[in-house]
Amino acid sequence: MKSTIENTVEFVKEKLKGAEAGHDWYHIERVWKLSRKIAAEEDCNQEVVELSALLHDIADPKFHNGDETIAPKIARKFLEGQQVSEEVIEKVLFIIKNISFKNRSEVPAELPIELKIVQDADRIDAVGAIGIGRTFNFGGFKNNPMYDPEVQPSLNMSKEEYKKSNGTTINHFYEKLLLLKDLMNTKKGKEIAQQRHDYMLGFLDQFYKEWNVD
Ligand code: ADP
Ligand code: NI
Repeated sequence: MKSTIENTVEFVKEKLKGAEAGHDWYHIERVWKLSRKIAAEEDCNQEVVELSALLHDIADPKFHNGDETIAPKIARKFLEGQQVSEEVIEKVLFIIKNISFKNRSEVPAELPIELKIVQDADRIDAVGAIGIGRTFNFGGFKNNPMYDPEVQPSLNMSKEEYKKSNGTTINHFYEKLLLLKDLMNTKKGKEIAQQRHDYMLGFLDQFYKEWNVD
């Protein structure tokens, strides 16, 4: 018989067929692996961490007209068909509802360690070389300009403004990616994020040098 984790992998792969490249099965696989790596250094419930990592983008509101209720419904229906306790289901649903960067102002101050772990893993996949790749892919998907020297980044956007933003891809670095290193919850997360942060600074430097042909 297959384990719950194996069933979940199969379910998520099937659900994410055809997803935008930055939010596809390989994003989930990286977040799952990063979550395990971080979890190895923390005192936590491994099953909750792995299930939440696998299910965290099952129906991203960005791709479902902003509807935030779809993902928890799909995850609950799936988990109820598995050998998982109601207590674990509730923990996983809490995590997938509250993990998002754009919801960060609404989330309760004290978070369960399992949420902190998966959130760090998801944020790590948003930075570094992979983060750069994902961000340009998303910008292309939205048909946003790569860069416009006339358009300044808008910091402190409300959740609504952030979601609606169709600014440039380079501005997204200042509006989100470069802020993530200071939002890490765990020691391991901070370490990995710092190295990837420095790599992005180097990328931006080079980008402006090449943009400003003299
Ligand atoms: P979350 O899914 O955690 O709420 P976001 O909605 O900010 O996070 O998006 C996840 C990823 O999608 C980002 O890390 C980035 O790669 C890409 N993305 C989101 N919004 C933009 C944008 N306006 N421009 C470019 N990339 C974006
Ligand atoms: Ni994600």
